[in-house]
Amino acid sequence: MSVHDIVYEIPEPLQSGTYVNDTQYNELYRRSLDDGDSFWEEMAREYIHWNKEWHTVSKWDYVKGEIEWFAGAELNVSYNCIDRHLAVRADKTALIWEGNEPGDVQTFTYRELHARVCKAANVLQSLGVTKGDRVALYLPMVPELTFFMLACARIGAIHSVIFAGFSAESLRDRVLDASCKVLITADEGLRGSKTIPLKAIADEAVRQCPCIETVLVVQRTNGNIDLEQGRDVLAGPLMEQASPECEPVSCSSEDPLFILYTSGSTGKPKGVLHTQGGYLLYTTVTHKYVFDYREDDVYFCAADIGWITGHSYIVYGPLSNGATTVMFESTPMYPDAGRYWDVCERHKVNIFYTAPTALRSIEKHGDDFPAQYDLSALRVLGSVGEPINVDAWEWYFKVVGREQCSLVDTWWQTETGGILLTPLPGATRLKPGSATRPFFGIEPCLIDDNGQEVADAVGKGRLFMKRSWPGQMRTVYGDHDRFVQTYFSEQPGYYFSGDAAERDSDGYYWVRGRVDDVVNVSGHRLGTAEIESAIDSSPAVVEAAVVGAPHDIKGTALFAFCVPAVEDMTDEEMQNSVKEAVRKEIGAFAIPDTIRFSSSLPRTRSGKIMRRILRKIAAGDTRDLGDVSTLADASIIQELLSA
Ligand code: PRX
Repeated sequence: MSVHDIVYEIPEPLQSGTYVNDTQYNELYRRSLDDGDSFWEEMAREYIHWNKEWHTVSKWDYVKGEIEWFAGAELNVSYNCIDRHLAVRADKTALIWEGNEPGDVQTFTYRELHARVCKAANVLQSLGVTKGDRVALYLPMVPELTFFMLACARIGAIHSVIFAGFSAESLRDRVLDASCKVLITADEGLRGSKTIPLKAIADEAVRQCPCIETVLVVQRTNGNIDLEQGRDVLAGPLMEQASPECEPVSCSSEDPLFILYTSGSTGKPKGVLHTQGGYLLYTTVTHKYVFDYREDDVYFCAADIGWITGHSYIVYGPLSNGATTVMFESTPMYPDAGRYWDVCERHKVNIFYTAPTALRSIEKHGDDFPAQYDLSALRVLGSVGEPINVDAWEWYFKVVGREQCSLVDTWWQTETGGILLTPLPGATRLKPGSATRPFFGIEPCLIDDNGQEVADAVGKGRLFMKRSWPGQMRTVYGDHDRFVQTYFSEQPGYYFSGDAAERDSDGYYWVRGRVDDVVNVSGHRLGTAEIESAIDSSPAVVEAAVVGAPHDIKGTALFAFCVPAVEDMTDEEMQNSVKEAVRKEIGAFAIPDTIRFSSSLPRTRSGKIMRRILRKIAAGDTRDLGDVSTLADASIIQELLSA
């Protein structure tokens, strides 16, 4: 039996009463392709409050990379996420914040969220931030992160959230790339037993960022920090004084909402730009249907807001639907491997969304942890960020979900804004490891090695999208050519995902991983070129090649092959130097798991590094290295193998 044949029926509790069953999925899906504009127009009317109607539903040109949804329309995203709920659910909990220590909880009703966001917006305005200005958010998972994102949306400023694990150098590059005017950070961040000196890191970055006029500091720990006169301001007192009312600014549907940097195949991260109307509609609709979200549900996405999952499925999608969304500051292992289940039990979570890497690290600690907690409120479980292996899938489904929950394996990307391939809880029989079928309006296709579309029902190839969807990114900030080159030049007229996939006889998609030099390590997306250039900054190294290797928990581990620059360093000294370089240039989360030194790297006669061979060596799969006849110097293989 192949893995394609393992099928789980829709769990009993979801066999009726969901938004869509299988027949309805097929009908709606067909309609969404046959008459896409009227499908999305209907959705736009039902799910979003517009200040002004559009003149054109959609228009896209994949040659020029020009994409527009709801052109001519106006809306305010924060109004949609907050104000419009006040008439019906002002006293409903909007945000449950679970702090680093178990039980350190703050809740905010929609009314309270409104006041906080208005105050935050007024604070930004008092600092001179206006529509179109860029604001960098370098914050831990504190409620203020959500407040300030929505505050930016309220006044039409563009937020750029930078994951709080990034180093000063990475922060600096991102702030400079978008010429941010204000940087919002915290004194310190807390994650498990670690304290991260965010303000000190931000100080180092801002020293080289002349564009930053103000650094606004949220006090999380009240730790000691330096405040630079004339530049740094504490957020707390300003928030206290600010008015709790702030008129939302009407924005065009295609005005930018945010920039989020992600890794590509070159060394320089891309500023993925998302706009207002289409993004909000797409995250709202996917959040509702994919999780079969109900009004009384407590919804918990355990991602970090520093990545797209947090943007779309902690903040924008859920709040636009008027949901109660949980924001989690800690880690799945703190204080022990039962933390997620503790949070689920205490807050009576109905929908839980996390990454396979977290599941695998918890699973390792056994079934006792989930068994100790009452998880009976759970109805839908979600997975995102990387392929989920059958073992982790079955553990999640059986041990956490007691076979009573749907398990939606959602495939998507920073670029796609929201979920593109996914089961729907009441519609889709599940196959562990498959993200199953396209969401409404999504038309995937596979292109084989000869550049031909796979016409047969069953096949494999690189994964493309044939048409636009509302949540699609609109450009690479400041580099539209790169946008066109990266996504639309591989197969003219189609969007290229960078992933390879298979399609089985049920039309289910199995995403196999990246075909470019991007790796997903513990749910963090990294470019090998970025890590190589960080390693190159180490005085111990002349050159490096980084590849991904399969890893039981992380999904993919990083393996760095390095050529030493000097002869008088010990292996340990060189290792430390490489680690330090990566920590400094990117952040500790990008430090390779294995660093191996050799006298050179395997190259073709034309000088190209043969990564295919390095990948095999890194994976320990050395029985057959494939064709090595183009190698310039075959002796290096022996050296690498005997290391
Ligand atoms: O390779 C795919 C993998 O994650 C990549 C996108 O990473 P990022 O932009 O950081 O967004 C992650 C969160 C949406 C994809 O190109 N990926 C994401 N979800 C899945 C996945 N691979 C397999 N199955 C998934 N469910």
